[in-house]
Amino acid sequence: MKKIIIINGPNLNLLGTREPEIYGNLSFTEFLEKLQEKYPTVEIDYYQSNVEGELINKLQEVGFSYDGIILNAAAYTHTSVGIADAVKAIETPVVEVHMSNTFGREAFRHTSYISPNAKGVILGFGLQSYELAVQSFFH
Ligand code: DQA
Repeated sequence: MKKIIIINGPNLNLLGTREPEIYGNLSFTEFLEKLQEKYPTVEIDYYQSNVEGELINKLQEVGFSYDGIILNAAAYTHTSVGIADAVKAIETPVVEVHMSNTFGREAFRHTSYISPNAKGVILGFGLQSYELAVQSFFH
């Protein structure tokens, strides 16, 4: 069975209550249960942290054994050389995901330190961005 992990960065634990006009009303755990039911032939693990170093530790931990990583580094996307270096250092392909269309938002969200080393980037489709990322690993 293919092993994929979704890694979510800071403030994404608040999905469902945080700025619902941008990020929607569904909590990530509710969404994840549905996703896991819809794709029973894939193991979809989940990790969330608000701490930069913990996200780096997780990338290193899974980055040599998993088949795919779906990474929404949230605000760290736009700031973290450390997470970018981790994505570059590991072997497992990383698909960068964002719920919002970051290019339609503030200029500081237009820069991603992760994109240059990602397998691909999916953004702007809300929670569906994660599902599209899961599907990308079937090819
Ligand atoms: C986000 C976009 C980031 O700019 C922001 O800091 C987030 C969420 C998204 O999924 O749209 O926290 O990664």
